[in-house]
Order: sequence, then structure tokens, then C-alpha cells
Amino acid sequence: MDLYAVFGNPIKHSKSPIIHQMFAQSVEHKLDYRAILAPRDGFIDSLDLFFNGSGLGANITLPFKEEAYQYADVLTLRAKLAGAVNTLKKCSDGSILGDNTDGAGLVSDLLRNKVTFKNKRILLIGAGGAARGSILPLLEQRPSELIIVNRTQEKAELLANTFNDFSVEKNTKINAFSFDSLPIEEYHLIINSTSTSVTGELPALKAEHLKSCECAYDMFYSKTATSFMSWVNEHNYKTKTLDGLGMLVGQAAESFELWRNATPNVESVLTKLKSEL
Ligand code: ATR
Repeated sequence: MDLYAVFGNPIKHSKSPIIHQMFAQSVEHKLDYRAILAPRDGFIDSLDLFFNGSGLGANITLPFKEEAYQYADVLTLRAKLAGAVNTLKKCSDGSILGDNTDGAGLVSDLLRNKVTFKNKRILLIGAGGAARGSILPLLEQRPSELIIVNRTQEKAELLANTFNDFSVEKNTKINAFSFDSLPIEEYHLIINSTSTSVTGELPALKAEHLKSCECAYDMFYSKTATSFMSWVNEHNYKTKTLDGLGMLVGQAAESFELWRNATPNVESVLTKLKSEL
């Protein structure tokens, strides 16, 4: 049977095996998808073993996304710009393609939730790996402006500079601020890419920044509303709040399509995962 796997450390709680088995069922494919715990100093050996054997494709999660980037023979543009790889595919000539589907997963979830981008200003909170991976897919939707706000302003500026050429190409402005310097302006879509919700903290945004916010998206997810979603709901009851479960399923769907050339059913997987949180 065609073999796929997710590599990480830890890996026990990964939802990828269940997601991909359900995807396979939804398009009537048969595949074997495993969770592989790679040693922290032995990730490359694990990958070699997998791809020199019968492995056809892999998802890569923490802490190996940068190593996977180095491992790939060829990189997609979005992986190059993300500086990290979450999907590897063994091509017909034996070479390994590295892709990053995280940002595309975010955008597909936003589109599935009827979020629109035309003439909209996006505020992206955070400037770490999660933010970096989402910028190109967001720019491809051609919002009017993408504003990055981060606790450490230099990191936000560095990211904005990295994507400057693409923002010009897509006719979108890109700017960077610290929380203190972030102007009180219209932000229609606000995306929290920081890890603050993991510990119940909040990014240092002001309630005034929410006044035009139509949708607030937290890349983190939990059984109940995340701390960021609750804070947004408290300060602007009109804002639609979404968590990152749909992004998780969305990035998996992008990987599945790359490997299997078939579009899986996202909704049924999301319904099942939500019921099991
Ligand atoms: P990831 O890959 O999940 O993005 P990361 O690369 O470590 O993880 O980035 C974490 C992001 O969360 C950064 O933008 C970080 O801000 P700094 O660049 O200033 O460190 C942000 N972050 C983490 N904890 C935060 C907090 N308590 N308040 C605000 N931002 C926080």
C-alpha cells in the first residue's frame, strides 16, 4: 500500500494520521499513513530510511521543519519564502520536493469561511515561523495592505522587507510595527500567529484596533474559544472569530492534493475533529 507519514518529536498527539485516513476514504484511495517519532538528532536518518524504502510523502512538524527545508532537493517558492518545509514528496525521478502548505491551509480556511480580501487591510500579529509561512499565500489574495505587528519590531521589519518584492508584484502594501507604534486604523482581518493563546496570554493589541475588524483568526485552537478569540468577542461583538483547526485540516488537504492529485473532503474531517476535541 502507498506509504506516507508525519515526522515530529513529540508526535503522539498528531492528528495527521486520522486526517489523512479520512481524506483517503473521501476520495476512495487506499494508503498507509503513519506517525513517526524521529530522534531529535536523527531526523535525517529517519527520513533517509523512509524515502529509500517505500515512503512516497511526508508531513513534517515541530521541531524539524527547518531541517526538512535543508533535506529537500527542490523547493516550491512558498517553501523557499517560508524558510521551512512541512511537506515532502518523492518525485518520479527519485528527487525530493519540499513544500510549505501551512499558509495555503490558512487561506483556504479563510475562503471556506467566506472571508474576502479585496480592498481589505490585514493585520498579522507575530513575526515568527507561523507568520512567515502565511505571508505569500495572503499576498496572493491581493488585499489592499498587509500590516505585520510584533513584540520585537525588528523581526516584523525583517519579514516585511523579505516580502517587499512580492507585495509590489501583487500591488499590495506591506508594513511593519511594534504594538506601541501600531496606528489606530481600519484592520478588517486580524490574524494571530503568536503562541500567546497556548498560555492564555494576549498580544498587546488595543480594543481600538478592533473597531473595523470583520474577522479575527487565531492560528491556535482549543475545545473552547481561545484567549484571543474571547478578548476580541468581548471588545467587538460584531467580529467573527475563527480558530486554527480549519487551518490544520486545510494544510493537510494541500499536502494530500500534492501527493495524490485528488481533492479530499475537508468538511467531514473538520466535523469529526471538532467533536473529538
Ligand atoms: P512560531 O513558529 O509558532 O511562529 P516562533 O518562530 O518562536 O514560533 O515565533 C513566536 C512569535 O510569537 C513571535 O512573533 C513572538 O514575538 P517576538 O518575535 O517578539 O519574540 C510572538 N510571541 C510569543 N510570545 C508572545 C507574547 N507573550 N506576546 C506577544 N508576542 C509573543
